[in-house]
Amino acid sequence: MSEVFVVSGPAEAGEYVAEILARAITTNPETVLGLATGSTPLPIYAALAEKVRTEGIDVSRVSGFALDEYVGIDPAHDQSYHHVIDAEVTQTLGLNPERVHVPSGNPETLESAGTAYEDAIRAAGGVDWQILGIGANGHIGFNEPGSPLDSLTRRVPLTEQTREDNARFFETIDEVPRHAITQGVGTILRAGHLFLLAFGAHKADAVARAINGPISPEIPASAIQSHPHVTVLLDAAAAAGLAPADYTVVEGVVSAV
Ligand code: PGA
Repeated sequence: MSEVFVVSGPAEAGEYVAEILARAITTNPETVLGLATGSTPLPIYAALAEKVRTEGIDVSRVSGFALDEYVGIDPAHDQSYHHVIDAEVTQTLGLNPERVHVPSGNPETLESAGTAYEDAIRAAGGVDWQILGIGANGHIGFNEPGSPLDSLTRRVPLTEQTREDNARFFETIDEVPRHAITQGVGTILRAGHLFLLAFGAHKADAVARAINGPISPEIPASAIQSHPHVTVLLDAAAAAGLAPADYTVVEGVVSAV
């Protein structure tokens, strides 16, 4: 575990990560981003889009790989991660859509889709910077509790808790798919640097177990402890299960980068 920062809120965390990514893209225009969906990463994408606009950063050769996709959802559905990544990342940042990848949730090609996705990540040179949220049950991507720590991209069942957590994006919980295709924990650990962000009291227990608990498939996010380059960004509520010695409080985020 490299560093755990407590910041004043999501906007500050987004600004912090966006500043690092903006510098990385300026240095290496072929930077490969690992993209998360959900509410947590949105401030990163908003802050990075602002920097791309105001600083004129060339993102035409940046690549992106999403963590996951629902199985059996129409890619045109507004809650498919194909659609969400396109709307929230590709369009917002102005990336080349041909360089932005989301695993295929087509049920008929699932067996080969995992290998194909691993191959595509490898062909791009690997993910440089991986953005992660964390589920209230400790999942990363859709690697639910029990996921092997060396797992690769594959089809997985979703827990009822995750389906309930994501029901807010659908009309009814019955519409929430029961399976997903996700990068494995092992896939995620291959990225050069991990950013894990969490906000709110409902994440505090998962965060504490991810950072201080044993490294265990029961809390897939605990695998980040074995990665040499990790930045965890939390608000005070999400850090409530940690001891003050576990983290650094950061104020005036940008100057701290
Ligand atoms: P959230 O989801 O960002 O919408 O809280 C995080 C996750 O489930 O990984």
